[in-house]
Amino acid sequence: MAPYLQPRVEDDLRSLLDEHALLHQLVDGLGSPLNLVLPDRLVRNVAAFRAVHRKHHLGGGVWFAHKANRSHALVRALAATDAGIDVASLGELQHALAAGFAPERIMATGPKSPEFLWLAARTGAVVNADSTVELADLAGIVAAHGLPPVRVLARLSGFASTGTNVLTRTSRFGIAAGDLTGLWETLEKHAGQLDFLGVAYHLDTVGLPEKAIALEGCLHAMDEAHQRGLRPRAVDVGGGFGVNYLADARQWEAWTSELTGAVLGRRPPITWNEHGYGLRNEGGTVRGALSVYPAHRSVAGPDYLDRLLSTPSAVHRRPLGTLLLDSLYDLHTEPGRALLDQCGATALRVEEVRGDLVRLAGNGGDVALEQHGVLMDPILVPRTRTEQAVDPSGFFLLGNLCLEADLLTRRKVFLPQPPRPGDLLVFVNTAGYLMDFSAGDALMQPTARTVAVSRGGGGWRWRLDEQYWPVTGREGTA
Ligand SMILES: Cc1ncc(COP(=O)(O)O)c(C=O)c1O
Repeated sequence: MAPYLQPRVEDDLRSLLDEHALLHQLVDGLGSPLNLVLPDRLVRNVAAFRAVHRKHHLGGGVWFAHKANRSHALVRALAATDAGIDVASLGELQHALAAGFAPERIMATGPKSPEFLWLAARTGAVVNADSTVELADLAGIVAAHGLPPVRVLARLSGFASTGTNVLTRTSRFGIAAGDLTGLWETLEKHAGQLDFLGVAYHLDTVGLPEKAIALEGCLHAMDEAHQRGLRPRAVDVGGGFGVNYLADARQWEAWTSELTGAVLGRRPPITWNEHGYGLRNEGGTVRGALSVYPAHRSVAGPDYLDRLLSTPSAVHRRPLGTLLLDSLYDLHTEPGRALLDQCGATALRVEEVRGDLVRLAGNGGDVALEQHGVLMDPILVPRTRTEQAVDPSGFFLLGNLCLEADLLTRRKVFLPQPPRPGDLLVFVNTAGYLMDFSAGDALMQPTARTVAVSRGGGGWRWRLDEQYWPVTGREGTA
């Protein structure tokens, strides 16, 4: 069996991919690469996160981490829901405001310039602060400009595990959870400028035990704040709920063991230049760690949040969600990738086929699988033919940059039939980080146009991303 990694493709995205003529027309007209986004699916994903809140009887908000995608259509569609948005730059804040988000549904996170802090404070967005210095700077801006108090969350990091021995990583963000005296003093000193909503974390990991420790640490910090006379009322557990990219767990297991076999020289290479994705052969033994995203995940997205809230506290032995509820705390989340599950795809035209080398009209920045460590097969959309599948062959997918390193994936990709020039390869589920986070104009190659597609009039309708607004009632709208 060829080492396929077939992508998980659900309902709407699946039926869109069956529209071969439409896909070819779009790429012919708008160029390759081409991003497709599905705003309606994003709206459904928000509802699935909300359902987890309801299940645990928790208030609070779902704040989409904007950084995961720049599309106007996605942000505008989101503005029409009850979701919030987490913006991590001045540009993202301006984009959210222009898309229709009222400031109370906007949260500013990440590194902040004075201009970003000022606009957040001026408009009344929530500021999720990384340090006490940032809180003091913000208070200074509020005082200097005579602004009303700004709602703030304090991001914490460096949580200590109680009992269980779970490794926690060092983070460049956040206030050390081990000593919060400086935080309480800053909040007390600037009580007239800062309305302290609560504490937050965001951990760049898929590990549930680490997140449970962080949530428990936040609950502890909330207790401490209340003992000091502060009145915080919310805990923000950040993002990182993840996506399951693959249809079949067995393919993932098989591929990782084939890779191990290839690294050990027990089978022919399945990667470019015998790349090991973090694994290496030391005298016949595999060393290192596989440094890729776990492409098949049995629990991801809203289910992962549910699992976190159902995890018992190491100290109190009761589910973390119940502890939040007992204290009447709101729960906030900042999902990026998970909210974009099944919300997009990227199509590239095949330019040339030379043996097992397939060159595409697009590059590794346009579909950033390698940068984000996501491994999955594209879907072949032939231009004309419908011949039967032949024995699957493996191909390396080369990009359009004049650069040795420009491969869309260093993994050999197996396709049910050989591609030909003019065919399309469509990478699915690229909306979260993979389609525009890393795209650039190196060598003056074109970056992808984006089209928003939605169902309508018995088929699919598309609009240029910038033309999409979530309104109905006139020709050409949803
Ligand atoms: C502060 C913050 N919140 C949320 C996210 C979104 O994470 P994810 O897309 O994994 O859900 C990120 C990602 O970097 C982040 O830095």
